Amino acid sequence: MSEQTTPDDITAAVLASFERSPDERLGTVMRALTAHLHAFVKDVALTEEEWRAAIGVLTATGHITSGTRQEWILWSDALGVSMLVDALANRVPASRGGPGDGAGPAGAATESTVQGPFYVPGAPHRGYGERIDEMPAGEPLWVHGTVRSLDGRALPGAELDVWQNGDNELYAVQDRKVPETHLRGRFTTREDGSYGFITVRPTPYPIPHDGPIGHMLAATGRHPWRPAHIHVIVRAPGHRPVTTHVFDRDSEHIDGDAVFAVKPSLLRELTARSADDPERPAGITGRWWSLASDFVLVPGAAAG
Ligand code: DHB
Ligand code: FE
Repeated sequence: MSEQTTPDDITAAVLASFERSPDERLGTVMRALTAHLHAFVKDVALTEEEWRAAIGVLTATGHITSGTRQEWILWSDALGVSMLVDALANRVPASRGGPGDGAGPAGAATESTVQGPFYVPGAPHRGYGERIDEMPAGEPLWVHGTVRSLDGRALPGAELDVWQNGDNELYAVQDRKVPETHLRGRFTTREDGSYGFITVRPTPYPIPHDGPIGHMLAATGRHPWRPAHIHVIVRAPGHRPVTTHVFDRDSEHIDGDAVFAVKPSLLRELTARSADDPERPAGITGRWWSLASDFVLVPGAAAG
């Protein structure tokens, strides 16, 4: 009767408490959470001081989170959990080979990556060749390509929902000085599956780092930077939508994304073009850049 209670006794008691969960999945998740959390605490021999500090960090994370600031998602992003959940939910068929066009791996379904905290639904519909920058935000960039199904068939009527930051490093949703439609747009592919729009060169961008995540990054010798990218959600009838980015492959931080969202298949070349280049789209003057990117969707239901 006088035997001492051990750390393992405590773990066993908590595990047992979830044995009769009416929701079976919830019981499974809570037992696994308990097992991993207790193993972690024992592994690092968490001190009382560290436990108090952790509670402080979680409290600060709640306090800084608002309708427009989601520090919990930043934790998930900065610890790679968002990418892991996305990878488990969106496994895509591997490449079937075939001729490449330099705009992405041939025949492979477009890989997904994090949505990030700055997506706002309802971007304005814009026509082929129109611009998404509504005020000066950087060097002109022509983005173009084709949306296809996995079998190579072009998809007319597909939607590209695009958003990005300007050269002040801000997305419109973060910047009270710009229209809320700035650097956002929805485009519909033409009969041949093609799309094209004018934007500006995206610049590298730091994730919000004035709160708990910023402290963690600084304290562990990490940086908050993401390489230059354009966000896009591609949707087409009868296909699984894909939430992804295209990355400037020559961007700073391309090998050190703070949220681990770079995948080799999403890297694209930005090509420098001169003012007298015969392919210069109407609407651009002076020197410009171009970026070719095709998107390949997997047939199936929209859910996921
Ligand atoms: C994150 C993603 C972004 O695309 C971005 O611009 C900033 C932050 C993120 O996943 O936390
Ligand atoms: Fe982003």
